[in-house]
Amino acid sequence: VTNVTRTNRQWLLRRRPVGTIVADDFEYREDPLPIPQLRESEILMKTRLVLCAPTMRNWMDPPGNGFYRSMPIGTPVIAPVVGEVVASRHSRYPVGSRITTLGSWQDFQTINAEVLSPRVIPDDITSLDALGVFGLNALTAYFGVLRVGGAKAADTLVVSGAAGSTGSIAAQIGKIAGCRVIGIAGGPAKCDWLVKECKLDAAVDYKAKDFADILASQCPLGINLFYDNVGGEVLQTAVNLMARRGCIVLCGQIATYNESRPAEGPRNMMRLVYGGISMRGFLITEFEHELTAALADLRRWKEEGKLIHREDVRNGFRNIPETFGAIFKGENMGTLIAAIDD
Ligand SMILES: NC(=O)c1ccc[n+]([C@@H]2O[C@H](COP(=O)([O-])OP(=O)(O)OC[C@H]3O[C@@H](n4cnc5c(N)ncnc54)[C@H](OP(=O)(O)O)[C@@H]3O)[C@@H](O)[C@H]2O)c1
Repeated sequence: VTNVTRTNRQWLLRRRPVGTIVADDFEYREDPLPIPQLRESEILMKTRLVLCAPTMRNWMDPPGNGFYRSMPIGTPVIAPVVGEVVASRHSRYPVGSRITTLGSWQDFQTINAEVLSPRVIPDDITSLDALGVFGLNALTAYFGVLRVGGAKAADTLVVSGAAGSTGSIAAQIGKIAGCRVIGIAGGPAKCDWLVKECKLDAAVDYKAKDFADILASQCPLGINLFYDNVGGEVLQTAVNLMARRGCIVLCGQIATYNESRPAEGPRNMMRLVYGGISMRGFLITEFEHELTAALADLRRWKEEGKLIHREDVRNGFRNIPETFGAIFKGENMGTLIAAIDD
């Protein structure tokens, strides 16, 4: 790195998007990479894969009444990434090691490893799997279903966004826990995949006209556990179908991320009061100390063929904003990843 002049491509957040993101919300830049002068504990990372995480759309909003970050205007868009260490002043991260970390939409980035604590990817895990079946979303699903939701055998578990990265793993972990699992997804192709490949008990298309009736017919005793990635009307439909002492796990609210003002919550909250129903949000960071054990379970289930997963990899640094936008149109089939080795 020190002797060669390299170019650093970046996608900056040009302005705060209003509604759905458009190309002009981002600015492309290309500059020579300055020779890095690393300080103690710093590493220089070459970004390889970028995870398209829907919540990044929230981070693009102005600072507001939320616990989440707000990305500064004029800086590279922050995103979970897989990178390779190309220069290092930290003994845990030798040159050549592959890491997952919070990075950004740029080729090279200097990271203080003590502050960000990147995770080193073991040799026997591919970079794609490190963002996919063993990545942030899969681990979130693991803790959401088992710890927050306390899934039990014979529960009726309903998962929204079920054909996506987080949802498909959540649904299959529910099957492993012995639940009757119903997935909610957009369109027949995703629903077919959930039943035929992921072996869910049923899948319901939320875009169908009689969605609420079909879901009700699949849950004759009500929903014991609702794992929600979507919010909005899908959440409302589930609230109306919850069984007594049921639990709603709020993993995300993708249906509302493009709204300028905080979205309306579900109506009919007295149903939760009278039914003794809980509703709780969570982040994976809550379970940081249990990651190793969770990963061991995910690896075993994958080896045993109990976890089906798929990655939707799109090549090209120049396409990153467009690739990211696809997740809000439901165009992704599995974990949406931008590969930037071009
Ligand atoms: N709490 C946490 O720590 C945590 C961690 C990771 C992810 N999450 C959340 O989990 C959710 C899923 O994220 P992911 O990364 O796994 O993405 P994903 O499910 O792979 O992709 C998002 C999917 O959401 C669906 N969708 C998009 N817009 C929608 C809308 N307006 N209404 C209903 N469905 C819509 C689309 O599927 P369809 O074709 O089925 O519509 C799309 O494919 C997000 O809400 C995310 O913020 C939370």
